[in-house]
Amino acid sequence: MCYCGDVRDGRRQGEARRLMQLSLFYSTAAEGLATECDWHSGKDRTVKSEDMNKRFLNRREFNGLCVALGSSLASVGAMIVALSSASAHAAAAGADSNGAGSTVKFRDATIVPALGQGSASLAQGRHPETVEEEALRTGISLGMTLIDTAELYRNGRSEELIGRVISGRRDRVFLVSKVWPNHVTGNGIARACEASLARLGTDHLDLYLLHCPSRDTDLSSIVVAFESLRAVGKIRAWGVSNFKVSDMEDLFRVSHGYRCATNQILYNVGNRGIEHDLLPWCEQHGMPVMAYSPLGGAGANLLRDPTLARIGAAHSCSAAAVALAWTIRNGNVIAIPESGSAAHVKENARALSLTLTPQELHTLDTAHPPPKR
Ligand SMILES: NC(=O)c1ccc[n+]([C@@H]2O[C@H](COP(=O)([O-])OP(=O)(O)OC[C@H]3O[C@@H](n4cnc5c(N)ncnc54)[C@H](OP(=O)(O)O)[C@@H]3O)[C@@H](O)[C@H]2O)c1
Repeated sequence: MCYCGDVRDGRRQGEARRLMQLSLFYSTAAEGLATECDWHSGKDRTVKSEDMNKRFLNRREFNGLCVALGSSLASVGAMIVALSSASAHAAAAGADSNGAGSTVKFRDATIVPALGQGSASLAQGRHPETVEEEALRTGISLGMTLIDTAELYRNGRSEELIGRVISGRRDRVFLVSKVWPNHVTGNGIARACEASLARLGTDHLDLYLLHCPSRDTDLSSIVVAFESLRAVGKIRAWGVSNFKVSDMEDLFRVSHGYRCATNQILYNVGNRGIEHDLLPWCEQHGMPVMAYSPLGGAGANLLRDPTLARIGAAHSCSAAAVALAWTIRNGNVIAIPESGSAAHVKENARALSLTLTPQELHTLDTAHPPPKR
């Protein structure tokens, strides 16, 4: 199954160009801060990016994804029509886009856009809910069709808001939710999943994640619960979040643990710590990762970075688009920026068609060094 648009659909290029013209260009300065999930309190906490900058990432080409995308398109039918605008957007960008970074392929061959939409702070009064709903719909129309949520977010209010957004367009969305670790004992995962499905108004999740490592319940029973949900079609795949390398190794030691589809983790140009060990580990195991807080977390402090703004100006796009293009540059990372503003979402969608040059990547490495080995 492919949740992405047709990169070859030239008919929609005019529409894509109009959308690009509508985009607002935005730049701010960075303080090198980002959020990280604190799984003991259930709140996001702020950490200094320097703490995370420890080692270096090997950069790779992912042109094979284009081939995979091409071969999958034949089977997606109406979904292509629904989702083609973002990829046409990419095509419309011409030399700026090679398409290689705009999709990610899971090991089960499911293809999703490399850019999704988060929802941790939606339905919290930052914007009117109708405005946030419109922002999510805008993202879907621009190809950001992967939507990430969790039972934790505003005690399910985020899932309810998303339920309204995807009503009537469920088949166009790759839906991700998460179960909090205090719900994993007994048949807690099945109950939590049912509750999430009810709030989202759907009969299945495309991906269900364990929000953080559980201190109380063994991994094998969690995997059994996920696999049972998969067997009855309540979820299409499962994964984890906030797992370190040692957690991943523990997971792969239990029966069927290798079926984990992804690990959702903190990653942005100011927080590159996973490049030291976790990202290479996931690459070695053919596992894409999902980068949360790709703009630096609540408040998007990263976007005040003058380097991002300068590079954005050269491409006539925002610092946000540059930060996101950087995050998804290698084809094995899905970024899930959150925005309750349609104007911001339009800026963010530009990352699907933005390829940073080697010189720009080098400049960003200098401003935000990769972890030292
Ligand atoms: N698994 C976990 O433990 C975990 C932890 C944290 C987050 N997450 C997931 O990851 C998602 C994203 O992470 P996040 O919310 O922490 O941080 P983020 O996406 O890095 O940043 C969100 C902030 O950026 C602003 N923003 C978005 N686009 C912008 C633009 N173009 N220009 C200026 N500001 C912009 C948003 O404000 P506006 O609404 O005003 O645009 C919001 O304040 C969450 O929503 C959640 O789904 C998961």
